Amino acid sequence: MRKPIIAGNWKMNKLVAEGARFVVDIREKVPPNEEVDTVVCAPFVHIPFISEAARAYHVKIGAQNMHYEESGAFTGEVSPTMLEDLLVDYVIIGHSERRQYFNETDETVNKKTKAAFEHNLLPIVCVGESLEQRENNETVDFVSGQVKKALDGLSDEQAKQVVIAYEPIWAIGTGKTATSEEANEVCKHIREVVKEAYSEDVSEAVRIQYGGSVKPENIEELLGMSDIDGALVGGASLKEDAFLKLVEAGQ
Ligand code: G3P
Repeated sequence: MRKPIIAGNWKMNKLVAEGARFVVDIREKVPPNEEVDTVVCAPFVHIPFISEAARAYHVKIGAQNMHYEESGAFTGEVSPTMLEDLLVDYVIIGHSERRQYFNETDETVNKKTKAAFEHNLLPIVCVGESLEQRENNETVDFVSGQVKKALDGLSDEQAKQVVIAYEPIWAIGTGKTATSEEANEVCKHIREVVKEAYSEDVSEAVRIQYGGSVKPENIEELLGMSDIDGALVGGASLKEDAFLKLVEAGQ
């Protein structure tokens, strides 16, 4: 039985005071970790403040990216060591916006995924096809390739703990959601890929989220599917009431 994981990805939104207030407002209403993992993935500058506000409650903290090196001459970057120091729980790796605008590649995604485990961070690895790839029936091959490359070289124990977020690019921020059947079909393939690369045991443990225009109106149907274990949510995670409804659906 996989524990659902609902993660909000604030992207580049909210000022620090707004972020801290959000966490203070939701923290007492968030269900216990035994039932659902609730994660808020905030911009780096928010992390010390929301992490403080979340401590002792059931809100886990996530970053939206990181470098794979521990330190060095990488102006503007944030390292896994720095996130570990702030007791961050999760880190989003390879979001399509980073792949599209910031030269994230399968190779850097793999390096970051490994670096996350070296620093007690759980990676949420994002994969997903473009509209063109979907129309050309390339979805399964493309997404399978992304998953294999991202997880390459992990131990069984590490692979079990990876969270994979399937986010079809055409469904992000567009209001277009993949139907739950479409989303589940790809998530099922992802689980197969993990099984081939590792074992059935690992593939049954891995949690796979769907992301792309998830909202309170469609969450229950998505979570009702056999291979969808949670959601990575952009727009609807910015409002407290909507986010809490998503989390409650995960219970
Ligand atoms: O990472 C979450 C994401 O890209 C989906 O965004 O706004 O479509 O929920 P949104």
